[in-house]
Amino acid sequence: MNRRRAYPLTLGLLFAACFGSRSGHAEGALLSVDQQELNALITKGQATAAFERAFEAGDELSEFDFTRDQGVGANVGEGRRFTRIPRADLTGPGEWATHFPIREGGANATSCISCHSAPIANGAGGVAMNVVVDPGHTGDPSQYLERNTTPLFALSIPQRLAEEMSVDLYLQREGARVRACEAGTATAELRAKSVAFGTLVLTRTGDEPCVVDTDTSGLTGIDEDLVVRPFGWKGNHATLRSFTRGAAHNELGLQATELVGDEDGDFDGIVNELSVGDITALTIYMAALERPVSSLELSDIGLLEMTDAEIRKVTAGESRFAKIGCSSCHTPSMSINDPVFREPSRVSGYAETRFPDGTKPADHALREDSAVSFDMRSDQPNNMVLLDGGAAYHLGSLEVDANGNGLARWYTDLKRHDMGEALSDPSDPLGIGASVFLTRSLAGVGSTGPWLHDGRATTLNEAIKAHGGEGAESRAAYNLLTGQQKAEVVAFLENLVIYHNDPDH
Ligand code: HEC
Ligand code: HEC
Repeated sequence: MNRRRAYPLTLGLLFAACFGSRSGHAEGALLSVDQQELNALITKGQATAAFERAFEAGDELSEFDFTRDQGVGANVGEGRRFTRIPRADLTGPGEWATHFPIREGGANATSCISCHSAPIANGAGGVAMNVVVDPGHTGDPSQYLERNTTPLFALSIPQRLAEEMSVDLYLQREGARVRACEAGTATAELRAKSVAFGTLVLTRTGDEPCVVDTDTSGLTGIDEDLVVRPFGWKGNHATLRSFTRGAAHNELGLQATELVGDEDGDFDGIVNELSVGDITALTIYMAALERPVSSLELSDIGLLEMTDAEIRKVTAGESRFAKIGCSSCHTPSMSINDPVFREPSRVSGYAETRFPDGTKPADHALREDSAVSFDMRSDQPNNMVLLDGGAAYHLGSLEVDANGNGLARWYTDLKRHDMGEALSDPSDPLGIGASVFLTRSLAGVGSTGPWLHDGRATTLNEAIKAHGGEGAESRAAYNLLTGQQKAEVVAFLENLVIYHNDPDH
């Protein structure tokens, strides 16, 4: 194995110069980001400055301890601003059950990183950071859903993968429409980045202009609109932006302007709690955070000592992972043909024509032609390391394949699967299926325990053994392995880690 020596390069220092000082977290010191300002920088040709401004502001916003003055928390009722337990019983004026948009849970916390914290800021969370939600306002604890906190690194990867997959699927649907118009009927076997999503059957029902009826009953693991939704345990959010808006509302009780306009939907006496620019900044920040790595990679560049026996164990586990069918859902790698993340997105299904408050993003200077963007192969600020000889290695950026395409090792097919009765939620308020979950990415999984949607698995072995339903076959294959072979699979998973070279950042 090619071993190069590497030295961590402290980017805190390097970027202090370009991004301005990061000190000044004094109470109330948070500066709201103006989308007009980001837009003006881009139209003046200063796209890099806009990206850096958004990233740095997103960093501040994600760790900022918000106070009442900024509207954190909500008027829950009974004189309280926070609750870990959904309170559909509190129906008085302005209380929990009357908030708009409908409150799923919380408000729970005063900062994003008070949950997203393990093993480092922006990471996952222990069971104490689980979130309890009651989107259907049942008021019945036996129906509440429990959710474990997921990590926030390199989230441009799932969004770009999903966008490219959806574009592929839209084209296949359009091809089938054209064929159905000619021949009367057509079937599309949908497949994107080698993942099969079932079939669409189109039947012509009218001529001049051609009208087709689309039978979506043969679809698997995806919504009828063919939008791949890569966020949330259930795979129910298409974009980082929409997830972020929801998290700000439900977890922090911060209602973005684009969510409710000038209204006070959580009755805490404060309006315009986060600007359009703030949501852009948080989105860009999570999109451009450093990607999870592997111990093998760290060892290869000299940042981690591994014995040959350890390396052999991980490598053996990696091939066994494929052999016993884990990789049929946890797809080890996919390429990204256009590895540029753009906010807002250009892709239909990901680009919002209207914000939830009814206004148009373009009216807030959030426009496709002046999107805040970055090249996922090179622009991430974190995890630059210096190799022996002085060359910089960008460990934080997306890997690149021989054709210059982005290479994403995300370990998911971005598809939903029925995981069986034992893993089922107690209720199905979203209509996705109580036991149906998105294949969870295993990027960084060695650093993010406890595991599974409610954090029930305290070891990786337990997480694997809990797979049922569509995962039952590969669980059975795992169970048939010898103790040593199981340990190899687990060693491979433990090798998928979160790494950050600047502990102060
Ligand atoms: C009270 C704990 C808590 C707080 C505070 C919190 N989160 Fe989360 N976060 C979670 C949980 C739990 C999930 C998983 C939710 C789900 O999938 O249903 C999650 C998931 C996410 C995801 C989806 C990641 C993925 O890969 O699916 C994003 C993005 C996110 N949070 C962003 C934020 C932002 C931004 C903030 C601050 C505005 C925030 N979170 C505050 C607990 C929290
Ligand atoms: C049918 C698709 C499928 C197969 C096959 C599959 N998984 Fe999963 N995996 C999932 C889904 C879906 C989840 C999330 C389930 C949940 O949270 O309830 C998951 C979750 C996990 C987790 C927990 C991730 C986290 O962050 O909490 C691990 C670890 C894991 N799988 C490993 C494996 C291994 C090892 C195999 C092979 C033995 C395997 N999986 C086979 C779909 C699959």
